[in-house]
Amino acid sequence: MNDKIQEYSSLIENNLYKYFETSLPEYKILFDSMEYSVKNGGKRVRPLLTLLFYTACGKNDVLKAMPMAEAVEYIHTYSLIHDDLPCMDDDDFRRGKPSNHKVFGEAIALLAGDGLLTAAFERISTWSLAGLYDAETCVKAIHELSVYAGSRGMIGGQIIDMQNEEKDDVKFESLQLMDNLKTGCLISVACALGCIAAGADDKLIDSAKIFGEKIGLAFQIKDDILDVTSSFEKLGKMTGSDANNNKSTYVKLLGIEKCEELVKTLTNEAMNALEAFPDNDLIKEYANYLADREY
Ligand code: IPE
Ligand code: IPE
Ligand code: MG
Ligand code: MG
Ligand code: MG
Repeated sequence: MNDKIQEYSSLIENNLYKYFETSLPEYKILFDSMEYSVKNGGKRVRPLLTLLFYTACGKNDVLKAMPMAEAVEYIHTYSLIHDDLPCMDDDDFRRGKPSNHKVFGEAIALLAGDGLLTAAFERISTWSLAGLYDAETCVKAIHELSVYAGSRGMIGGQIIDMQNEEKDDVKFESLQLMDNLKTGCLISVACALGCIAAGADDKLIDSAKIFGEKIGLAFQIKDDILDVTSSFEKLGKMTGSDANNNKSTYVKLLGIEKCEELVKTLTNEAMNALEAFPDNDLIKEYANYLADREY
């Protein structure tokens, strides 16, 4: 992986845990549970995209975009904790470790998810109040994040995913809507937040969203492929989960080979949205890395 991307990954890793440093003994278990799921093993795709888009807008001081990057990773991690619960995908492993509810129990896992979701908005607003960026940037970031992660975005997609477990004849367009919402939305807004932190105009923000939408769909299709073709050792989560839950996926509808092609096509289409960015080489490199990833 490119040195710059490695550097940003380490920076993200160093900043993600600060939030968990202060808690009262009375609710320390909640913070332990939140930290447990955030810590180690995640690829940090979304926060990396935030920083990469920030720099693609011609900015260098990436720490200015860090609260937004952290916020996206907290929301992503909350979505994984809830996604693994017995009432959803019922998965016992995540990021190479037992899932949150297997260690802390369902009630604490639920609350750890709630805590991380809320922490995201605390992070962005705290740093605005501290003067890192202005109030308008803060409101815009919080608005976009709440829409894309919310009921018309990621949560809407998760509902469609759950409802589709009961069906065997889900069509291509319906799968596309599900994946765009459950995965594409958060990836899209991760890209947009980098531009918002950089003070970019709406046209650039929209281009980042289009890239995120394409790459997000490719990302979920690849995730569905890996659920069939990869291993626990590589993924850090059980394979075969989708088939066990009768999930409707592109892989089930089209087969592995066509899905691999689709990942490539979508990745190429995503690249076309990058033309407006002054400096887009790192994003292109990272998009190719994501398409070829093995975990
Ligand atoms: C898994 O996301 C859930 C999907 C949306 C496919 P990631 O593959 O980014 O999971 P981590 O963050 O690396 O654990
Ligand atoms: C998860 O999709 C999407 C969200 C958490 C929003 P999956 O259910 O396919 O993710 P994994 O395979 O459990 O990581
Ligand atoms: Mg799921
Ligand atoms: Mg799942
Ligand atoms: Mg999956």
